[in-house]
Amino acid sequence: MSARFPVSRPRRLRRTQALRDLVAETRLNVNDLVAPLFVREGIDAPIPILSLPGVVQHTRASLRTEVRELADLGIKSVILFGIPSTKDEIGSGAFDPQGIVQLALSDLRSDLGDQVVLMSDLCVDEYTSHGHCGILDGHGSVDNDATLEVYAKAAIAQANAGAHVVAPSGMMDGQVGVIRAALDSNGHSETSILAYSAKYASGLYGPFREAVDVQIVGGGDRKGYQQDWRNAREALTEVEADIEQGADMVMVKPALAYLDVIAAVRQLVNVPVAAYHVSGEYSMIKAAAANGWIDHDIVATEHLTAIKRAGADIILTYLARWYGELTNG
Ligand code: PBG
Repeated sequence: MSARFPVSRPRRLRRTQALRDLVAETRLNVNDLVAPLFVREGIDAPIPILSLPGVVQHTRASLRTEVRELADLGIKSVILFGIPSTKDEIGSGAFDPQGIVQLALSDLRSDLGDQVVLMSDLCVDEYTSHGHCGILDGHGSVDNDATLEVYAKAAIAQANAGAHVVAPSGMMDGQVGVIRAALDSNGHSETSILAYSAKYASGLYGPFREAVDVQIVGGGDRKGYQQDWRNAREALTEVEADIEQGADMVMVKPALAYLDVIAAVRQLVNVPVAAYHVSGEYSMIKAAAANGWIDHDIVATEHLTAIKRAGADIILTYLARWYGELTNG
């Protein structure tokens, strides 16, 4: 007797794991992932970041070990964030040749050469006493043009130190053009720019601010320069502007609440599209899993796969090491 409803075509292809693997439309791979790493000046042992379980502030030495281990797991791209021991009004640590990220970049470049893609976040918020991503004018607002001069210096310092890719994350107008020009006129025309083009003023950066020890002065926020999460079309304008100014790759950040934006950007451009699965996205998985409310490995894989399915070619994620261990284990 034939069944009332014959098995549908999609169901027929779902029957076994091997069949599901054969027809999968999206295949996550270690090559897609970039590991964000923190390096702190003036410490002699790594310090755990409580709000990002499993992530630490590295010493220069422990960072070297970490990046080598990541490379052995197939994670061949990292992005560095620095925590300086002193901060000032203009964020000098961001461009000082002896600044912590510059030192870490040269350590890693001498250890690994071109074996790993070395990226550096290019912003001043970790280095400024007020915690903003730019230089403040006399009224406490960010002065866009004064900030661009500092970004240009930071780009040159990072490239001199060995960065393959600089990643401006401050959402200043004109930042990509100014950085491209500064790199080109200082012998670094081969250094790439990954632009944080569509970066939203998200509540999901909370754990990151603990990781880099940043408090915005007076309980302020970044809504004056980062994007309003109610807007998606606006993201396309930002992306177009960055590509026109010379961005080699563009980024949407955060990732999961912005899958529509990732998909729209993917449709619009031909350059690689990155998405940042940010600190809060990671911490939510860790916290719920620690409570036994969700299965860590399933949800983590689901998140990363969804980001790729939406159209991201590159995913910056604190889950990179875990994924490398999972797939090499
Ligand atoms: C700015 C920067 C931030 C993040 C990456 N680069 C913080 C911010 O804009 O406040 C957040 C990353 C995360 O939450 O994982 N330098």
